[in-house]
Amino acid sequence: SDIEKGTYPHFMLKEIDEQPLVLRRIIQEYQNEDNEIKLDPDVRQAMKDCDRIYIIAAGTSYHAGLIGKQFIEKFAKIPVEVHVASEFSYNMPLLSEKPLFVYISQSGETADSRAVLVQTKELGHPALTITNVPGSTLSREADYTLHLHAGPEIAVASTKAYTAQMAVLAILGVDTANAKGIDLAFDPMQELAIVANAMEAMADQKEVFEDLAHEFLETTRNCFFIGRSIDYYVGVEGALKLKEISYIQAEGFAGGELKHGTIALIEEETPVIALATQAAVNDSIRGNVQEVIARGANACVISMKGLEKDGDSFVLPKVHELLTPIVSVLPLQLISYYAALHRDCDVDKPRNLAKSVTVE
Ligand code: G6P
Repeated sequence: SDIEKGTYPHFMLKEIDEQPLVLRRIIQEYQNEDNEIKLDPDVRQAMKDCDRIYIIAAGTSYHAGLIGKQFIEKFAKIPVEVHVASEFSYNMPLLSEKPLFVYISQSGETADSRAVLVQTKELGHPALTITNVPGSTLSREADYTLHLHAGPEIAVASTKAYTAQMAVLAILGVDTANAKGIDLAFDPMQELAIVANAMEAMADQKEVFEDLAHEFLETTRNCFFIGRSIDYYVGVEGALKLKEISYIQAEGFAGGELKHGTIALIEEETPVIALATQAAVNDSIRGNVQEVIARGANACVISMKGLEKDGDSFVLPKVHELLTPIVSVLPLQLISYYAALHRDCDVDKPRNLAKSVTVE
């Protein structure tokens, strides 16, 4: 069953492995017999009616929101703001005339997000919750819910819920585009199926990622993740995964920001994990890699097929350029997992953390 580890040593590893299955389940659940997107008509209408979307979330779900913004803006042409739930009410942005609030939460119980939901409901604004737990507080209290269908996620560090969030947000973005009559040369179900296959192929090569964890993270106290464009957001999630379970101090940076401060921290042997999945920024991120190597860093480059260069540590199978975050996070999840394992950390129950945080 979903809440048994079976032959797996940890829930986290099991949940990482379940990601292709979860994507295929999402494809099924969000498609009708005519291969059209199947979505609650009220959600479709709310997306059509709003003039701006405010995504509110915490932790890994916030990182999924950063990617979701790209999908909704690029596909549906609706402006999107993404906010950390705990900060939102201190400096509430000036709201648009017809805002739609989208709460992304694996558990549906995060108190920081709920506090914002209560506040925005009081202001009379519609709310959509995207969650893995349909009966949860955030689901019940919002007007609409989209279900992630990821199955119970037990490990504290979120993996399959994050990839499910991105997949559902991609579908939502395309559905809204369709509803608005925007013509897209992009079939989300077909592209997500390609992503699922790519993830499956990678999950079969675990020893590669265990070796990378050995090579780059065995004794280090810190680690940097760099990326540009959409890769930057994935790097931030990679850093969170590594911090959460291995306690290695990690930070994700935009490649272009390195020179504005962070590069001062690069020393002999500092691990820098770089993502290179976007053609438009391949040269510039490669430039950043050279800059850190010149200062002694141990650079681990994870690139995408077609953009690879000699010496890259891993080349991801090719998927649609906008969906790369769903595949590029998998090596980062597995490298974090093995780094934590090699340090004898409690992978599923890291110190000081809770699966759902029900206090503000
Ligand atoms: C906790 C968990 C994180 C999670 C965050 C948001 O801090 O440890 O893994 O990303 O809450 O949780 P949610 O259930 O709202 O997605």
